[in-house]
Amino acid sequence: MKIAVIGTGYVGLVTGVTLSEIGHQVTCVDVDKEKVNTLNKGVSPIYEEGLTELLEKNLERGTLTFTADYDEGMLGKDIIYLTVGTPQGKDGSADLTYIDKACDSIAASLQQNAIIVTKSTVPVGTNSYIKSRFEEKLSSNIKVKIVSNPEFLRQGSAVYDTFNGDRIVIGSDNTEALETIAEVNAPFNLPIVKTDLRSAEMIKYAANAFLATKISFINEIANLSEQVGANVDLVADGIGMDKRIGRAFLNAGAGFGGSCFPKDTNALISIGKEVDYTMPLLESVIKVNDKQRSIIADKVIANYADLSGKKIAVLGLAFKPNTDDMRDAPSIQITERLIEQGANLYAYDPVAIENAKKVLSGQVEYCSNIESALQNADMAIILTEWQEIKDFPLSAYKQYMKKPVLFDGRNCFTIEQINGSGIEYHSIGRPVEKAN
Ligand code: UGA
Repeated sequence: MKIAVIGTGYVGLVTGVTLSEIGHQVTCVDVDKEKVNTLNKGVSPIYEEGLTELLEKNLERGTLTFTADYDEGMLGKDIIYLTVGTPQGKDGSADLTYIDKACDSIAASLQQNAIIVTKSTVPVGTNSYIKSRFEEKLSSNIKVKIVSNPEFLRQGSAVYDTFNGDRIVIGSDNTEALETIAEVNAPFNLPIVKTDLRSAEMIKYAANAFLATKISFINEIANLSEQVGANVDLVADGIGMDKRIGRAFLNAGAGFGGSCFPKDTNALISIGKEVDYTMPLLESVIKVNDKQRSIIADKVIANYADLSGKKIAVLGLAFKPNTDDMRDAPSIQITERLIEQGANLYAYDPVAIENAKKVLSGQVEYCSNIESALQNADMAIILTEWQEIKDFPLSAYKQYMKKPVLFDGRNCFTIEQINGSGIEYHSIGRPVEKAN
């Protein structure tokens, strides 16, 4: 099939590259000419494991190209994927400005009938709106059919997830278009769920909202466990073995962040408001998460009468491991609070430092390795569970720090590992371990 992909953000780029990998002829269109030039040279602007290899391979065999020119991008394409961003608007709803612009540019260049496939996360009903926008803008001899094909990729493992996902959701009110897009996706060899347009749109939001709910739920259980002397990790294992519950997304910690859960939970509440439906459960999920993000800072503050002049090593800044993304990272709020208290922060992250510099206070000092962050520190806090941080020997905390006190916002170590390490250890939803 001849496919165009509009937008080369993380979803668009992964979509374009993987569709070319399974044998389609793909042209990715992006208005950013510099980015297009870089991509045509085989250089990816984002870090995603396995992406550069597939990018280079498919550029070389001529199944993938990038252009900033819509006329060139639309030429002879049967299928056009919409993968532009839908950021959070001021009122919490999804901002559709980029969708509008992309639709109008497609309409101005399209010379043949095509199927429009929306991969961007859009509020329920948006695909019907997209259809009417095309009908308004296209000349009367050109027709488009609309399909919703939401993505379930995790940042950091997007290529793996594309080939190993649990399902592909394809929604349309047009059977022929639905079957064509099912055929396009057949080489991925994954179960396909076929739905109407609105149900597909809802599946995307409901999936993210449910995962966010699991996280807030376990965080609430963690806080209670801590009060009553239980260990939340064992509780999560114990309930997670029940297949009806499942262990995934039951890791207690400093709260969820990133570009999806915070934005999509708010957007779903906004979708409800538009039809006068309130969603108290989801509102609580967000409330619990907001509180959870400050828990590590609360614990630090509660343990010291005065933080002024104290050196704190901050290990991990990105919203999760294997990404340099700082969007809505809990580290933003936590570092701000500790600086307000007069602490001196020395931060290390394997890849997110450049992005962190753009969003954290200018007062944070950045270190090039864990050792230099820990050097002479009064305490350390872990905010991202990078493998490198989990593998760092516990004995080294004692060796480098003034006093080995560790606040672990991601429960990187078991209590057994900590026992006997000589570290005073505060974590989430588990008893405090005094140095011994
Ligand atoms: C999420 C979903 O997992 C993807 O399925 C979805 O496609 C994507 O959003 C999206 O809508 O584009 P992502 O935001 O990349 O993916 O990251 P996750 O791995 O889901 O983690 C999100 C946040 O939840 C992170 O801050 C992570 O630390 C936190 N988390 C996750 C927990 O606190 N506990 C857990 O058990 C799992």
